[in-house]
Amino acid sequence: MKRFTDRRTFIKTASAGVAGATLLGAARGMAAPSNRLVAAVMGVNSRGGVLATSFARAEGCEVAVICDVDERAISRSIKEVSEVGTGRVPKGVVDLREALDNPEIDILVIAAPDHWHAPAAIMALQAGKHVYVEKPCSYNPQEGELLVQAQARYNRVVQMGNQQRASMESAQVIDAINEGIIGRPYYGRAWYANTRGPIGRGKPAPVPDWLNYDLWQGPAPRVPYMDNRIHYNWHWFWHWGTGEICNNGTHEIDMCRWALGVDYPTKVTSAGGRYRYDDDWEFYDTQIASFEFEGNKTITWDGRSCNGRVVEGRGRGASIHGDHGTVVIDRNGYIVYDQDNREIWRRSRATGEATLDIRGGGGLTDRHIANMLRVIRDDVPQNSPIDEGHKSTLLCHLGNIAQETGRTLHCDPSNGHILGDDDAMKMWGRDYEPGWEVKV
Ligand SMILES: NC(=O)c1ccc[n+]([C@@H]2O[C@H](COP(=O)([O-])OP(=O)(O)OC[C@H]3O[C@@H](n4cnc5c(N)ncnc54)[C@H](O)[C@@H]3O)[C@@H](O)[C@H]2O)c1
Repeated sequence: MKRFTDRRTFIKTASAGVAGATLLGAARGMAAPSNRLVAAVMGVNSRGGVLATSFARAEGCEVAVICDVDERAISRSIKEVSEVGTGRVPKGVVDLREALDNPEIDILVIAAPDHWHAPAAIMALQAGKHVYVEKPCSYNPQEGELLVQAQARYNRVVQMGNQQRASMESAQVIDAINEGIIGRPYYGRAWYANTRGPIGRGKPAPVPDWLNYDLWQGPAPRVPYMDNRIHYNWHWFWHWGTGEICNNGTHEIDMCRWALGVDYPTKVTSAGGRYRYDDDWEFYDTQIASFEFEGNKTITWDGRSCNGRVVEGRGRGASIHGDHGTVVIDRNGYIVYDQDNREIWRRSRATGEATLDIRGGGGLTDRHIANMLRVIRDDVPQNSPIDEGHKSTLLCHLGNIAQETGRTLHCDPSNGHILGDDDAMKMWGRDYEPGWEVKV
């Protein structure tokens, strides 16, 4: 913490009228490059376990704290982390606030369930920490806006886990699209296809002795423990999760938004439902959502959680269509086609990045983390500043709101707010467990 005090003082006393980003940039350069950055990782059952080892292996970084409300996950992750990097054995803690009170911690890494993402990120920013927050960066649109405000206010680096932003191949082909390789790009198609099984019908059950269910719920209003939600299946329940569109659509819709150069939509529609199984799953296993933008551009999301038929030979990806051709992009590279479907350029490099494995992990995750550490130290450009992460996540939330209300949403293209539909706008925020309200 102390090493960033200078930066804060600098920013406070710097002359008015200079853009915040410039100030932040100049100030970031003040941190000595030799400084080790120290991370705490929150939520290590699956994705967080991957992130913990990735941060521990990263140049100039170590993991000092593993935080989880499942004591079994803590011991597993401590063992994995202590076998890589500097070999430091992290301390295990159950309560996030203990990690945030620790002055040695520079970065909070968040891979807890979605209802925790923005609340934990904002608490960390208020404690002076940088944040790596898994996608989606928010549980609802309002939390995304609060997180963007908090980042600006507390002036720390916030990186969302949209790791394809770290792909050299994706960046290269997006440059080529901007230079006109397919003419004017106007349509982006995002897809994901998997064969997830049913989750059954949950029954009330005693809270397992390895779990602190009160802290697991955190900001979410209290509900009784059921035996088919924890771990992972919470993704499919509105109370904590955000469905497949925020789970995997965030990655692919983010690629389309990047390639088309669009921000907030003017119109959002959605069709689909829980078609494959009759069980507790509340979101949709099949969803076709569309997002229209000013300048005659559209993105669609084709999400299939329970039917693995590939598109363009891939279980996940994005295709960008333009006046003169099409680009297909995935985590390993891209292919450019002309209007006659002839392949004119291809590049691929095995990044090792997992595609359908639910833990994720691999080369792009490592690169995305390395980018964040360099942004903190050296002021290199950030792969995906949080206001960009928020815009992509917001599209996914709007897709869910359109599907749930069954209506076409008309949106303000300057901020994505829903116009003329008070019912739909009720889904912008949420109720909190008393004492856990999110404030910037
Ligand atoms: N970027 C990617 O490629 C990628 C891949 C997989 C998952 N994810 C994201 O990572 C997040 C976690 O997903 P998962 O599959 O690992 O879920 P999971 O349910 O398997 O694990 C979540 C962990 O968080 C812990 N947790 C809950 N409340 C906590 C608290 N208050 N303090 C500390 N720990 C707490 C749980 O006990 C559990 O260990 C999700 O938001 C998901 O979208 C991202």
